[in-house]
Amino acid sequence: MTGIAHPATFAAGVPHDTFARLRRDEPVAWTEEPVLVRHSAAGRIAERGSGYWTVTRHAAVAEASRRTDVFSSGERGAFLVDPRTKADLARTRELLVNMDAPRHTRIRRLVTSVFTPRAVRALADGIRAHARGLVASVVERGRFDAVDDLAAELPLLVLADLLGMPRADRHLLFRWSNHLVGFDDPEYGGGDIDAYRQVFVEAFSYALELAAQRRARPGEDLVSLLATAEVDGRRLSDREFCHFWMLLVVAGNETTRHLISGSLHALAEHPDQLARLCAEPSLVPAAVEELLRWVTPIMQFRRTATCDTELDGQKIAKGDKVVLYYVSANRDRAVFADPDRLDLGRDPNPHLSFGVGAHFCLGASLTRLEARTLLEELRPHLAGLALDGAPERLESNFVNGLKSLPVRL
Ligand code: HEM
Repeated sequence: MTGIAHPATFAAGVPHDTFARLRRDEPVAWTEEPVLVRHSAAGRIAERGSGYWTVTRHAAVAEASRRTDVFSSGERGAFLVDPRTKADLARTRELLVNMDAPRHTRIRRLVTSVFTPRAVRALADGIRAHARGLVASVVERGRFDAVDDLAAELPLLVLADLLGMPRADRHLLFRWSNHLVGFDDPEYGGGDIDAYRQVFVEAFSYALELAAQRRARPGEDLVSLLATAEVDGRRLSDREFCHFWMLLVVAGNETTRHLISGSLHALAEHPDQLARLCAEPSLVPAAVEELLRWVTPIMQFRRTATCDTELDGQKIAKGDKVVLYYVSANRDRAVFADPDRLDLGRDPNPHLSFGVGAHFCLGASLTRLEARTLLEELRPHLAGLALDGAPERLESNFVNGLKSLPVRL
């Protein structure tokens, strides 16, 4: 048994029983971190984190997300593993998700001024066309890998459109984000620190060139808008631009991929719900919310306590690491009746899959649009959906992901 802090634990599936026990007996539990081996040109490094508070109940995850002055994203970043050096911490803090007010507020305002519901709606026709094309090709084949052939492709095509990139370059997005999010997986990042840094170098030089082109000849795409937008008379600096671009590349692709593949997996394993969806087209929006709850593609984000405090009855000391487990909050029976039952008509469904509060996911409406459109296009063909081999899971304690999902229609 490796415990919830170890990426390998999740290769066998999310340990929902462990989370249920924690919610019941020890809702804010101290968790030791395992030794993880990384490597770089300097040799092998065995690292062990400080340990952290695991927050499992819905109300406490929401409370900590809202108390941003006490539970900081900027202090040591929002990722589970601490930055190794001061320079790493400074780099980490360039990502929106790892910032606190007032800088977070300023950059988020700038980004939301261009990443608007209108900008997302403008992508709707393109998303529909991509979804139709992908569905036609898998339906024709009958047997396919739902990760490579469907779930990975749709967000990549949409992201290329959103970022104004040539579609042919989307494999770069795929490689970069696999390396970063799959850092702990032996097949992707393999714990290789040099390769991780190299991905940033490559991606930033691509982003800078794109920004320079768009500043010279702005178009309607998000990159043109981001490269030229101003808040309080200031543009994003090159560094700020590159980091936001990188965040979109990773956040806009892996997460939606795992939502789609995890959803197809869930439907294949719940024939009653699959039949319900096939019979009731109007169920699609509620089904997407329930699948977001069920899959919880991002399982946790982390905070650091800025002072001695208390959460859900537990004393927490200044500087402690506090990890908010959305994947557990989403199965809390204090909020969801019969939480371990997939119910595509569940209403209300206040899941926390997109977080809550100041850092609420900026891509939520885009994700919803992609997932709804794909489900609408797939629905007429889904009646015979079945697994066609064993799914392969990603080794990650951060994203709930599949590397392959063989299915047939
Ligand atoms: C299933 C899909 C997705 C899930 C589950 C998801 C989940 C999340 C979560 C939980 C957060 C909160 C982080 C925190 O509180 O520390 C977040 C933030 C964010 N997400 Fe998403 N996301 C998804 C898709 C997307 C997409 C498609 C984009 C962009 C194209 C995106 C961009 C962002 C950004 C920029 C933030 C940072 C917001 C901030 O710090 O103010 N996400 N996401």
